[in-house]
Amino acid sequence: MLDWSEPSAPAHHVPPPLVAPSLAETGKTGPGTIDRRGGRVSVDDKRMINCRADVNQLLPLKYKWAWEKYLAGCNNHWMPTEVSMQADIALWKSRDGLTEDERRAIKRNLGFFAASESLVANNIVLAIYRHLTNPECRQYLLRQSFEEAVHTHTFQYIVESLGLDEGELFNMYREVPSITDKAAWAIKHTQHLDDPDFKTGTPEADQAFLRDLVAFYVIFEGMWFYTGFAQILSLGRRNKMVGIAEQYQYILRDESIHLNFGIDVINQIKIENPHLWTRAFQDEIRDMVRNAAELEAAYGRDTMPRGFLGLNAALCEQYMHFIANRRCAQLGLARVFDEAENPFPWMSEAMDLKKEKNFFETRVIEYQNGGALNWE
Ligand SMILES: [Fe+2]
Ligand SMILES: [Fe+2]
Repeated sequence: MLDWSEPSAPAHHVPPPLVAPSLAETGKTGPGTIDRRGGRVSVDDKRMINCRADVNQLLPLKYKWAWEKYLAGCNNHWMPTEVSMQADIALWKSRDGLTEDERRAIKRNLGFFAASESLVANNIVLAIYRHLTNPECRQYLLRQSFEEAVHTHTFQYIVESLGLDEGELFNMYREVPSITDKAAWAIKHTQHLDDPDFKTGTPEADQAFLRDLVAFYVIFEGMWFYTGFAQILSLGRRNKMVGIAEQYQYILRDESIHLNFGIDVINQIKIENPHLWTRAFQDEIRDMVRNAAELEAAYGRDTMPRGFLGLNAALCEQYMHFIANRRCAQLGLARVFDEAENPFPWMSEAMDLKKEKNFFETRVIEYQNGGALNWE
């Protein structure tokens, strides 16, 4: 039986001594101890990384873009269980409503996302949060972490609704090589960041932190998720799996803010630490983007060996080249592939949820949007 009553103070309790080192002395990025003699935080004290100002003081805001994204995320709140799965269940259980190729693509797509949402969430909580020393950015990270939990919930809900094999789906990131290759590539860039002894503060460590931000925000959420969205939304456009497609629209809306938050974080760290953004480091980031696009092309061939109406591996590869070049431009880097045309111009339409009423003709949910969904 739980006891909710106030714990009684031990008799003759002696408070700890008031001599507490300041954050400047400890360099801690957590609550640390309370500095009773410290001054108030001014905007100029705030920094993205290696900041010694009190991380517990949200105001005054320095990075308004981070706060605005937090508000936009809150305004976009949704839950997967609000979306009806009836049409999807009927189609999935029908004998000939879906081709074998479509079923393979759907299952592998769900398998990729099911574990990826958790990988992203774990990276935020275990690696990024600790080293991003700014309260307004952390406020957004807390919101983003919850959204990743909602996304993971989506895949639980889909598995349950369609009666899919949960072990098969949630293990694909370990058992399907084209998915494992992507997960392993991303984890490689974050492993040492969740090492309790890892600290930013040297150029090498700060660059390692930037590599993690690129791997997860720009590549995982900003490139690899986009082929996945295109696969499901393309089926939705043909009136197939409309419930999942509607959920993917909401995830896409969330992810486009995650991506743009990551881009803003990286660019702000660059502004504050120009010595990190060397020519060699820029080349390394461009190599990461190129390499990631190649892994994605392999995933496209594996999930769509023959392709289906309006979608195939070659088009997805072209789309990845288009997206990769775009991400480079957002980071101020030269493009990595020849100029590529966007083969899926309808993706930008899918991102604009004001058109939601006519897009899939499913139940309309009037969510307030963040007011500015043109970030992607
Ligand atoms: Fe997500
Ligand atoms: Fe995300």
